[in-house]
Amino acid sequence: MDFNLTREQTLIQKMVRAFTENEVKPIAAETDKTCEYPRENIEKLFHYGIMGMCVPKEYGGAGSDDLSAALAVEELSKVCASTGDIVATHNGLCCDPILRNGTGAQKQKYLRMLTEGHKVGAFALTEPNAGSDASKGTTTARLEGDHYVLNGSKVFITNGYVADVIVVFAMTDPSKGTRGISAFIVESSFPGYHVGKHEEKLGLHGSPTAELIFEDCIVPKENLLGQEGKGFKIAMQTLDGGRIGIAAQALGITEGAMEEAITYTKSRVQFGKPIAKFQNTQFTFADMKVAVESGRLLVHQAATLKSAGKPFTMEAAMAKLYTSENAMKYTVKALQMFGGYGYTRDFPVERMLRDAKITEIYEGTSEVQRIVISSNMALK
Ligand code: CAA
Repeated sequence: MDFNLTREQTLIQKMVRAFTENEVKPIAAETDKTCEYPRENIEKLFHYGIMGMCVPKEYGGAGSDDLSAALAVEELSKVCASTGDIVATHNGLCCDPILRNGTGAQKQKYLRMLTEGHKVGAFALTEPNAGSDASKGTTTARLEGDHYVLNGSKVFITNGYVADVIVVFAMTDPSKGTRGISAFIVESSFPGYHVGKHEEKLGLHGSPTAELIFEDCIVPKENLLGQEGKGFKIAMQTLDGGRIGIAAQALGITEGAMEEAITYTKSRVQFGKPIAKFQNTQFTFADMKVAVESGRLLVHQAATLKSAGKPFTMEAAMAKLYTSENAMKYTVKALQMFGGYGYTRDFPVERMLRDAKITEIYEGTSEVQRIVISSNMALK
């Protein structure tokens, strides 16, 4: 096993780290407070080639590998998990399925829009009554001549109210169950496409989450992504990859909280010495460090397998499960080290704690990850 990053991976990590420090950190608290989408920083991330970074150069991207994408999300999420989320969704849930399943013409058109064109991507699978049981969606797509007509609604869509290009899943043949679901590339300008409720959330305030409504939405026939009836497989494969991004996000949140807590406990004096000198504090940091480094190995394993074209479903689920549960556990412990100050907005740990919670929920809850892991263990 090679634990070293390549030269390119190291360069990307350094570049995103510098960008995060200079551009993201100064506005992270304000973004959380105002719930504003960090538009200028996302524009800059397009400019630096991070948005759509795994798209090959022939379609306008940087041609980076999956580990580089995970490193970028991890760095951003150390200080602003919202920014990490916007990037992870754009790259993992919109560019990736188009890259893997699109026709030459779809890739030329949409991947260029999602890279050089600075258009933001989203992924719309979840419905009000179909969350973990993702196959039970009721959004339909009916073929009428040269176009499909989509009807239904999607909820909790990351990048929802800013997205220009959305990968949408709809039933083309309800009698066939999961094999009756198809995927479509939808532009927000298509007739019958509407943005519904903007969600107000516990955390990730800078990440725009919305309901999407399709009312006789006209989608050209050539925007079917993959074959009719293959949509559920495309959704599941996409989520396998997306889960690496969420694991990287959770890892970044834990590291961010740990760094903040180290700085604070070295300067906070109680009972005559900095609280970092107490063994209780040191043992907590030791546990955090083990959680971060072991989580990192899981993320790197899943990303490396994905780039090598090898199966990685279980590895991605393990990475997401482990890092997200640790993000929750250790942001709570980091906040505790700040005492009363940690409960205020004067320090970023309370935001990190609020941001951590969603990593145990979206792109498959922890319970769903346990289903995926156990069903890949050939226990039957
Ligand atoms: N890769 C490829 N194909 C897969 C697959 C995978 N990882 N997992 C399942 N499939 C295929 C199966 O092979 C099967 O195909 P066949 O019909 O050809 O045999 C088909 O899909 C159905 O498989 P299952 O019967 O196992 O599927 P299921 O309905 O029991 O689903 C589940 C199991 C794992 C619980 C799945 O429903 C799931 O992952 N649920 C969670 C969904 C999720 O993550 N939602 C979040 C959406 S995104 C989001 O959070 C919002 C956002 O904007 C970020």
